[in-house]
Amino acid sequence: MGRLVELGWFILLMAVVNIEAQKKPSINIRSQCLGNVMRVNVGPLGGNLLEVAVVINNSAILLTPSLASQCGFSMKIDQLGNAMIYASLQNCFAQNVEDKVFTTTLNLRLHGNQMVEDELYQVAETCQYTTWASREIVCDRSYMEVSVKRAAPDDYGLPEHPILGANSKFGDPRRAAEKQSIDAGFRITTLVFYTPGEKLMNVVEAQRNGYGITNTATRLVLRSPKASPETYIQNVAEVPMTVLRTSVIFEKKWLATQIDAAIACPTLEGSVSFTLNTITWFLPRHIDPLIYSGQFKLLEVHMGVDGQRLEPPEIAARRYSLTVNDVYIIVEIPIGAVGGYFKSHVQDGQYLTSYTIEPMLELLWTEDSINEDTRYKVLLPITTPLMSRPPQVHDNTVKEERIFKVLLGPLGSDVALMNITFPTEVLTVADCVARGYNVLEHMSPNSSSKVFTLEVPFTDSAVLQMKGMGVTVYSLQLTFGLLVLPEFAPFSHSAYLEAKLVDIVPPSVSGGCDYQNFYALLKYGTGGFNFKIMLGKRLLTPGLAQQYGFMENGTHLSFTVPFSAPDVVYEAVESSSIRSRLDMVLINPETNINIKEFSVACNFFSTLTECFPNGTMTALAVKLESVPSLNPSQLTLRDPTCGPTYSDDRYAYFVFTGNSCGTNRKFLPNMMLYENEISLPDELEMQKESTTNEPEYELKVSCYYDINKTHAVAFHTRPRRSEPYAENARGELQVAIRLATDNSYSMFHSVEDYPIARYLQQPLYFEVELMKSANPQLSLELENCWATLDEDRTSQPRWNLIINGCANPVDPNQVIFHPVWADARVQYPPHFKRFEVLTFAFAEDQDNLSSQLFVHCDVAICDARNPLGGACNRQCSNQENRIKGQRRAVLDGHSFKHVTLGPILIN
Ligand SMILES: *[C@@H]1O[C@H](CO)[C@@H](O)[C@H](O)[C@H]1NC(C)=O
Ligand SMILES: *[C@@H]1O[C@H](CO)[C@@H](O)[C@H](O)[C@H]1NC(C)=O
Ligand SMILES: *[C@@H]1O[C@H](CO)[C@@H](O)[C@H](O)[C@H]1NC(C)=O
Ligand SMILES: *[C@@H]1O[C@H](CO)[C@@H](O)[C@H](O)[C@H]1NC(C)=O
Ligand SMILES: *[C@@H]1O[C@H](CO)[C@@H](O)[C@H](O)[C@H]1NC(C)=O
Ligand SMILES: *[C@@H]1O[C@H](CO)[C@@H](O)[C@H](O)[C@H]1NC(C)=O
Ligand SMILES: *[C@@H]1O[C@H](CO)[C@@H](O)[C@H](O)[C@H]1NC(C)=O
Repeated sequence: MGRLVELGWFILLMAVVNIEAQKKPSINIRSQCLGNVMRVNVGPLGGNLLEVAVVINNSAILLTPSLASQCGFSMKIDQLGNAMIYASLQNCFAQNVEDKVFTTTLNLRLHGNQMVEDELYQVAETCQYTTWASREIVCDRSYMEVSVKRAAPDDYGLPEHPILGANSKFGDPRRAAEKQSIDAGFRITTLVFYTPGEKLMNVVEAQRNGYGITNTATRLVLRSPKASPETYIQNVAEVPMTVLRTSVIFEKKWLATQIDAAIACPTLEGSVSFTLNTITWFLPRHIDPLIYSGQFKLLEVHMGVDGQRLEPPEIAARRYSLTVNDVYIIVEIPIGAVGGYFKSHVQDGQYLTSYTIEPMLELLWTEDSINEDTRYKVLLPITTPLMSRPPQVHDNTVKEERIFKVLLGPLGSDVALMNITFPTEVLTVADCVARGYNVLEHMSPNSSSKVFTLEVPFTDSAVLQMKGMGVTVYSLQLTFGLLVLPEFAPFSHSAYLEAKLVDIVPPSVSGGCDYQNFYALLKYGTGGFNFKIMLGKRLLTPGLAQQYGFMENGTHLSFTVPFSAPDVVYEAVESSSIRSRLDMVLINPETNINIKEFSVACNFFSTLTECFPNGTMTALAVKLESVPSLNPSQLTLRDPTCGPTYSDDRYAYFVFTGNSCGTNRKFLPNMMLYENEISLPDELEMQKESTTNEPEYELKVSCYYDINKTHAVAFHTRPRRSEPYAENARGELQVAIRLATDNSYSMFHSVEDYPIARYLQQPLYFEVELMKSANPQLSLELENCWATLDEDRTSQPRWNLIINGCANPVDPNQVIFHPVWADARVQYPPHFKRFEVLTFAFAEDQDNLSSQLFVHCDVAICDARNPLGGACNRQCSNQENRIKGQRRAVLDGHSFKHVTLGPILIN
């Protein structure tokens, strides 16, 4: 649209002189040439009054509104107190050099409202403007101006006109003007206004009526206030326009000529329409009152704001739109767009805004038939009707941060936040800041609006908390107290914020142990299974989890860790147990913060030292938590040359004998004690102590040998092979006899039950067991069993019950043998023998029945691999009472055991 023409103006000079001493250096003054007008920006005024005077011939003439509109000046002040002064280059006071260079000098006086002295600034601007069109029309906010080029001198054919010609002679008056020369000899005598009826005024009258008339070197300038009695409204393409039509009569002696000068400016009403979001301005493309011929051609259309042209990219960037159709030039401006500003208003407590912008349209058209072009410029100040745009409350709270974050806006840049009302109190903004709330004002980058933000922590007393059902509801009720400046009009806006937070329950852990494992059960908290698990120093990886029998069901997880697993630490070693501890840490995978720590420690039975009857001893040394730097492979027995036979980073296993590796031997009553100890060799220990403050590692190893029962394994004797009770060298009871409560042999009398009372003829159920042997090759055989009255097995009288493995053949009430089957208690049936005795078997002499009995047995332990006859290979004559068909060799004469049970009271 419209070809771009090189602009014929540029800034020539800008001079700002602060005449008085500078007191408020913050004020900015900037002047600019904008084609046929110039603009001075002054501001911010900060509440001061601005008085503008024009300087001419060293004297200042104060610009009143009427003088301004007559002489081509106007002024506006925006909501932030910045003033813009517009001046026509052809204003009454410009120094005009050949209609090419125009200088205007202004005095700007700021009236301080306090004790401050007035401040005076002078600004002079020289603008060069050479691209004058034949006719230039300016529609300013306060005046309408037309500048018409006077025709080139042409002394021939100058027609004479009577001063008051007939209407007909105005058929094409400008054609006459154009062809005629109006040289210096001519002077303006009369102005004819067509209202549309004719109205005559001389120059003085016209000036008195507010018109400006200037006759420059080449041009005639006529200026009128916006609404003078001589203007009229004419609808042009349905847009009402203010029209002023005049003829200016020039006379020279008896000659008279005239120039017609018409102005038409759009009125705001009728040319601008508003929607909620857009301002639309229709300017007729063909402004009939200004166009005489049919051959009208629109050459250029420019758009601008505040008198300044904008290039198409800038127009697009500001989201303005400029379109031209057959009838109109249409400008659309989004409400709120750059270039305008919002002004806030309060009506009945309601917050309202208006938006103000002053767009400009500049047209250039030509009428070829009369060889004349027209530049037409309109600056149209537009203010929307009051709009209800209540500020919005945005809840930007991220509840996990536990801070209410609220944003209020947008509000006009002329709104100030004064205070905030909470249910319990009213706080000024300063109070809020002192209280630790974060209150901020954010101006939009284009200064057209602002927002306020407020942050209040959930923990603040202004925040209400309601707990229940595992949820806490936080709420904040507040009212912003606001003020529109500079009118000091108060209004308020309320907000209610609420945030629900699920109460956080951490995961819980429980754990325990059995004889060889740690068990861990984890119940998830509110976060679910959202944690990493550290076991000891290792992360529980899927592989490790599988190894530890990891199970998970949506609410719980569990796993099992053997007490000797690498993730377990050993706290202490006791004679037959190890105290181990499993440490667990639950870690938040995002923050790596520990959610929960948990430890279980248990004593696990473990044979660390074994003492074999053949004199071999073994000892397992474990690395303890308290000596992390210990290297088990460096441990030795007392003799530092006796190192471990096997070691890794947690264990060292030693094998030694009673007469090696510095083992000590001690004699105790019926016992022999072998002792050794495991520790670091002295030099390593000293080295460790010098670098760490760990305790010294020393593990004592002791073996007791019962001399009476294991004398065969005494220190120097040759070890014996397959010693049945050699599995534990502590000399514990190997054979036991006990009395069952009935023939099911499931319940037995315990030691506390003795003496046991039985009635005569009540049967007694005996069981004899080879204890603590897992050797299935061994069997227990009963050699002889008898009863005595005294605990002494050799005492008299004596009743033989079993003789040489068989029931006493002379006993009228022979013992009854019961077979033994494997069950939960009986692992190896050959290790057991059971028999039943009737008590009246003891009633040989009923008169002298004793009150108590003791039963004794001689027991043989037999080895199936080595049948040697004797008790192990005996047969009874009575087939039914035979204990075993096939007897086996007793190991040797010494392997008889003797057991005694009693007393049993016979009533
Ligand atoms: C300014 O002075 C010039 C002569 O120097 C004079 O022609 C002109 O009328 C004066 N203008 C005003 C407004 O006093
Ligand atoms: C000014 O900035 C605000 C916020 O950034 C934006 O909403 C508005 O559209 C902008 N106005 C203009 C004129 O660009
Ligand atoms: C809070 O500010 C509002 C708006 O400026 C004002 O009307 C009101 O009086 C203030 N309230 C208090 C308690 O200061
Ligand atoms: C998950 O396992 C735990 C512990 O074994 C049990 O108490 C719970 O009921 C199980 N939950 C489901 C959903 O199976
Ligand atoms: C001693 O007995 C143990 C256990 O039966 C056996 O491992 C070891 O080899 C024997 N030592 C000797 C020297 O026979
Ligand atoms: C071991 O034998 C001695 C004598 O041979 C005896 O005095 C002692 O009581 C016996 N000890 C045990 C525990 O049987
Ligand atoms: C009967 O018992 C008494 C003591 O209790 C004893 O003196 C007496 O000799 C016993 N008689 C017989 C026949 O054993």
